[in-house]
Amino acid sequence: MSKRHAPFLFELFCLLADNRRGEAEVLREFLSSLGINPFDIIIVEKAGLLRVLVYFTDRILAQKARRKANTFLHGKVRFKVRKIRNESWKVKTAKNFSIFALTKRFDVVPSWRRRAYRKTSRTPIIIDSINAFGTGLHETTSFMAQLVERQAQRFQTFLDIGTGTGLLAMIALHCGAKKVVGIDFDRDAVVAARRNLKVNGFDPMQARHGNIETYHTQKPFEFVAANLITRDLIKYKRQILATVSRGGFLAISGIMIENAPLVRKAFHARRLRCIKICKGEQWVAFLYQKAL
Ligand SMILES: C[S@@+](CC[C@H](N)C(=O)[O-])C[C@H]1O[C@@H](n2cnc3c(N)ncnc32)[C@H](O)[C@@H]1O
Repeated sequence: MSKRHAPFLFELFCLLADNRRGEAEVLREFLSSLGINPFDIIIVEKAGLLRVLVYFTDRILAQKARRKANTFLHGKVRFKVRKIRNESWKVKTAKNFSIFALTKRFDVVPSWRRRAYRKTSRTPIIIDSINAFGTGLHETTSFMAQLVERQAQRFQTFLDIGTGTGLLAMIALHCGAKKVVGIDFDRDAVVAARRNLKVNGFDPMQARHGNIETYHTQKPFEFVAANLITRDLIKYKRQILATVSRGGFLAISGIMIENAPLVRKAFHARRLRCIKICKGEQWVAFLYQKAL
């Protein structure tokens, strides 16, 4: 779903007390069982309340999801739908997005909070455009960032499949990569990634429009990162693996815990060894190494 061009959005939301995170996660699971991409389900904590939010471009779809969610909840909590200006969705995201420690080494600094950032030995990564997925706040991205950082200086070439804001590509550049390519099939994401690369002093043209379904490379990469939904990781497994060099690393993320066995099975191969697993409450990521 592209939320970027519609002038209005339909916000499906419910409010829970902030000690009810478990219930918020159950709601996330329920909403994803309705076919909503888990990445599109946002849980934010503000003023002592948890907000579960989903943005739709179509009012009918939003109302349908509201009815199903309210039936599921037996009236204990009620979801509502309200019409909002698309712009206000971006502004809201920007307001909720502040400086934070992404990994042991990297901080994420929204460009509009830059002046508040105190320099330390840590490395700041400036995010100027959030018009794409990948602020680092989502666990699937932070797992990826940790896996890239873990292999710092052990790879020279890096492919970021579905680069979003370009955050992982920038981490790879800081971790010693000399050649980086970030592809995304969403043109808005490419624009955002290029802007972010430029603001951080990197070559913006390292982000390119591309779809992993048809992507070919003459020279495979020493590290490949793919934070995609489970269905796409499995669907494009052959294409993804073809981009990894012998002895190279492959990090995959975007996997809900209940889908982990499916992914492990799909990526089970004699020449592929799982060397690290990152597991949270909801998500899991795997780091593989290809045999020489
Ligand atoms: C979950 S976001 C990950 C963004 C960022 N890499 C991160 O880890 O935060 C997935 C990104 O992959 C892109 N994407 C999804 N399917 C793709 C495909 N088949 N080819 C290229 N990009 C794709 C989406 O547009 C989105 O920007």
